[in-house]
Amino acid sequence: MNDLFDIESKLKDYIGEKRYKHSLRVADTASKMAEKFNVDPKKAYLAGLIHDCAKYNEEFFLNKFNIKLSAYPVSSIKDPVLHSFLGAEVAKKVYNIYDEDILEAIKYHTTGKANMTDLEKIIFIADAIEPDRNFEGIAEIRKYAFENLNEAMLALLDNNIIFLISKKAIINPLSFEARNYLIEEKNGKIRHNS
Ligand SMILES: [Fe+2]
Ligand SMILES: [Fe+2]
Repeated sequence: MNDLFDIESKLKDYIGEKRYKHSLRVADTASKMAEKFNVDPKKAYLAGLIHDCAKYNEEFFLNKFNIKLSAYPVSSIKDPVLHSFLGAEVAKKVYNIYDEDILEAIKYHTTGKANMTDLEKIIFIADAIEPDRNFEGIAEIRKYAFENLNEAMLALLDNNIIFLISKKAIINPLSFEARNYLIEEKNGKIRHNS
């Protein structure tokens, strides 16, 4: 099933109206960013649309597909990053999306990782800056989002990490790896990324 209408109606059933509307805004933001950075806007739209497909149904999908929680780098069933890793599996098995670029973008949309592709960065950023999001400093990040993906990623990772520290919450090591990679790249220690 790759018909957009089928995907959208199924998605709405699984994640609910509110999260579905967020997904549409992420899809829209991601496809606009994609055009700017010479990434396939259709891929970006689909990845944005589907990125939260496992949200609110983590336990259901783990059981349905017989996946052990230990398959993912998460701390518990309640870990807010679980839906992204699991989402890549759900995208394949429920929505028949097999494009690896899209699946990887879904997988890392909450944590980031080292050496991300532009599509992965776009989904991570679009999720955070879609028009309904609001937090201190967002205006500057929205500007970066269409000028410099790495600066937008760095600002968002800093924001996320500081927020998680303030909440005494767990920080997934992938976010540190993402940030360290971007900083090393900025300092010229890494020549090029995908
Ligand atoms: Fe998400
Ligand atoms: Fe999201």
